[in-house]
Amino acid sequence: MAMAVWNASNFTKQSGLQSETLQGGDKNAKHAYGTIKYKTEIMKILVIGGTGLIGRQLVNKLSKAGHNVKAGSPSTGVDILTGKGLAEALKDTEVVIDVSNSPTPDDEVAIHFFRKAGENLAAAEKAAGVKHHLILSIVGTDVAPYIGYLQAKKEQEDTIKQSGIPFTIVRATQFHEHITTLVGFGTKDNEVHISTLDYQPIAAEDVVAYLAKAAVEAPLNNTVEIAGPDRAPMPEFVKTYLKAKADNKTVVANDENRYFVHTIPKAALVPAGSFIAGNLRFEDWANN
Ligand SMILES: NC(=O)c1ccc[n+]([C@@H]2O[C@H](COP(=O)([O-])OP(=O)(O)OC[C@H]3O[C@@H](n4cnc5c(N)ncnc54)[C@H](OP(=O)(O)O)[C@@H]3O)[C@@H](O)[C@H]2O)c1
Repeated sequence: MAMAVWNASNFTKQSGLQSETLQGGDKNAKHAYGTIKYKTEIMKILVIGGTGLIGRQLVNKLSKAGHNVKAGSPSTGVDILTGKGLAEALKDTEVVIDVSNSPTPDDEVAIHFFRKAGENLAAAEKAAGVKHHLILSIVGTDVAPYIGYLQAKKEQEDTIKQSGIPFTIVRATQFHEHITTLVGFGTKDNEVHISTLDYQPIAAEDVVAYLAKAAVEAPLNNTVEIAGPDRAPMPEFVKTYLKAKADNKTVVANDENRYFVHTIPKAALVPAGSFIAGNLRFEDWANN
C-alpha cells in the first residue's frame, strides 16, 4: 500500500505550567513529543466543517501529507443537520474530524445544531464503519455548562462517547484569532472593557497541527486539552493586541468575571489540569 511520510507535529511537552502528561488518555496510547516524523498509510479522511477557519487549514495540511481528504460542509454538498450528502461522503472513510460550528453561538441555536448534527453523524458513521472520530471541543465545557454554547459542545462530546465509535476529543482554549471578537464586544467609544479572567489562547495553526497529528494516530477514546504557551489575565492579551495593531484604545480592566454576557469562574477558560501546549506565542502572532 502507498505510504506517506510527513512531519506531523512540533508540539512540545509543556513544563512551564507543570504539565507533564496528557489529561486522562488511554494508558496504552503513547504520544510522541518534540519534532517527529510519522510514517503512515494514506488514509481517507472527511473533515466536517472543512471550509471553516480550522477546517480549511486542516484539509490543506492533511492533503499535503498525502492523505485522501474531503471537506464536508453545506457548500461542498454535505450537511450534517439534514444528513444530505453524508452517506456518500463517508463511503470508505476511515477517519472523520468534526470541526463544524453552529450558525450562531446563541444557546438554542447551538444546542439544536450540535445535538442534531452529532446524532446524524454518529448514526451515519456507524453505518459506514468509520474507525476514528475526532471532535474539536472547548476547554471549560465541564466548568460552565450553564452557557448554552458550552452545553452544546458537551452534548457533542457525549454523543460520540456513547456511540461506540472510537474517538478522540480535543478541547482547545480560545484561538488567538478570537481576540478580535473580544475587542469588538468590549469596545465602547475609545475604551475596551474587559474582565481579568485567566486566558491562555492558542494559535489556530497549532490547533490544526495537533488535530492533524491525532487524526493519523490511534484513537485515544478519551479527552485531551490543548492551550497556548502563555497564561495571563485577559486584559494583558488585549493590550498586546492593540499595541501590535497601533490601536490607541484604552483597556479598562474589571473583576466582574464576565465573558460576553455570562459570569464564569475566573479560571473557566484555561485548563485545570495537564494540557498540551502550542508553540506560537500570542505576541508573535499579533505582530505578524
Ligand atoms: N473560536 C474559538 O476560539 C474556539 C476555541 C475552541 C474550540 N472551537 C471550536 O472549533 C470548531 C471550529 O471553529 P471554526 O472557527 O473553525 O468554525 P467556522 O470558521 O465558523 O467554520 C464552521 C464550519 O462548519 C461548517 N458547517 C456549518 N453548518 C454545517 C452543517 N449543517 N453541516 C456541515 N458543516 C457545517 C461550515 O460550512 P460552510 O462554510 O459551508 O458554511 C464551516 O466549514 C467549533 O466547533 C468551535 O466550537 C473554537
